[in-house]
Amino acid sequence: MPSRYGKLIGSIDAGTGSVRFLVFAAATSELLTYHKLDLETLTPKEGWVEQDPLVILSLVEQCIEKCVGYLVELDIDPNDIVAIGITNQRETTILWDSLTGKPLYNAIVWSDVRTKVIVDEYSFKLKNTEFLKAICGLPISTYFSAVKINWLMSNVDEVKSAIKNNRCLFGTVDSWLVWNLTGGSDGGLHITDVTNASRTLLMNLRSLTWDPHLVSLFSIPSQILPQIRSSSEIYGYLKAGSLEGVPISGILGDQQSALMGQSCLAPGQAKNTYGTGCFLLYNTGTAIVNSSQGLLTTVAYQLGPQAPITYALEGSIAVAGQAFKWLRDNLNLIGDLNEIESLVQNSTQGSSGEVVFVPAFSGLYAPYWQRDARSIICGLTDETSKADIVRAALEAVCFQTRDILEAMREDCGLALEKLLVDGGMTGNKSLMQLQADLSGVPVIRPLMAEATALGAAMAAGCADGINAWDPATMPPPCSDEFYPSIDENERDMRYVKWKKGVKRSMGWDL
Ligand code: G3P
Repeated sequence: MPSRYGKLIGSIDAGTGSVRFLVFAAATSELLTYHKLDLETLTPKEGWVEQDPLVILSLVEQCIEKCVGYLVELDIDPNDIVAIGITNQRETTILWDSLTGKPLYNAIVWSDVRTKVIVDEYSFKLKNTEFLKAICGLPISTYFSAVKINWLMSNVDEVKSAIKNNRCLFGTVDSWLVWNLTGGSDGGLHITDVTNASRTLLMNLRSLTWDPHLVSLFSIPSQILPQIRSSSEIYGYLKAGSLEGVPISGILGDQQSALMGQSCLAPGQAKNTYGTGCFLLYNTGTAIVNSSQGLLTTVAYQLGPQAPITYALEGSIAVAGQAFKWLRDNLNLIGDLNEIESLVQNSTQGSSGEVVFVPAFSGLYAPYWQRDARSIICGLTDETSKADIVRAALEAVCFQTRDILEAMREDCGLALEKLLVDGGMTGNKSLMQLQADLSGVPVIRPLMAEATALGAAMAAGCADGINAWDPATMPPPCSDEFYPSIDENERDMRYVKWKKGVKRSMGWDL
């Protein structure tokens, strides 16, 4: 008999910068407790971005155990957790040995650009890569998993030998976690969900199966690929730990999960999540909309094996929060990310917008898709202060969001009336006001910022056999709102400067 909060749903949120476990009450969507641990990123060479898959797993296990302890302290029975959802950084590629369970190499993170040469070779060989978008919704880019697998197969001896001996398994972070949490080499499930699979360059958007043409194009041995499942069904059960026996019944890539957590379940609804990167997803319902403006077509969710498939258009921005980590760790310009808000208040940059910062550490993603673009900071004078540079970094996130909004308007003919936002950076009020000012659209921020984790909990809670949550009847969350406070002339004048900066970042070595 569940206690005062009724049935509880746990949500594993394995992001790029941190790993969390959160516990929600299904009846009210209330967040009861959570634990978060930072995840280290390794950069062994310029453009290489890696993480240790065993660390990711260990952080997940630690966060679960911590939360179980917190529940007990709150006098809530952990046995009330009836299901677990998983949401994760997408595209990040892990290959491991099915017998030993050991990773064959570090996880290659989505923002890693070591595969530039592979991408160039494919672009040259295929001449017109547009047909890829028609099949899987994605352009060829260093961003997606297929080229990362391809690099690992060519460069890592352990991978070559594991493939030869039929012991190599591929997965995005969701697959890696599910395989380990459901038993690992002792019967662990090798699966992924439709949203994560739609980020590999290998899945056919219509059939939701691995596309034989794409799999062979990237020379991927099909036996290493996980089985593709819906985003909401009972896949298997935790094999160890305090929550042993609890079903895993929801998987969503983190951006799709935030779309669900923000209740953007109707066509035309959109959300923007500010994390390491920034990702604007626009629900297009059952329609596959092909973008002519550099947006991705992706699966938004499929809530059950027989449920209809919902698609989304996505504007992906590679660098958002990461720019501030760079200002902190590489330039020592700020000591702590919490300083940003007060620093920006001191910026004299104001409406003149002289300093433009284009953070293109992974090249530029949507809508430009320029893998060779380089980061630039321009417009400096002897008056420029660090506050101005920090503010320019915030503005970069907002201008890139405007780039995406413009592209969506072109593709769908629809101007968004409001922008729903979430993610760690939305705690920064200056960013929220700048976003409203620079995009000209009201910004709506839910007070509960964990929309990403909430989405996976909803998917897990509504699975057949769990039936604890009905996403369609969620009440709108409490939120606060930010309205544009500058006029259109000023907004456009500043946007023109941003566009000049982008042009320079794309042509810096010409
Ligand atoms: O596609 C990459 C994305 O899933 C990473 O999200 O929140 O870690 O920036 P985040």
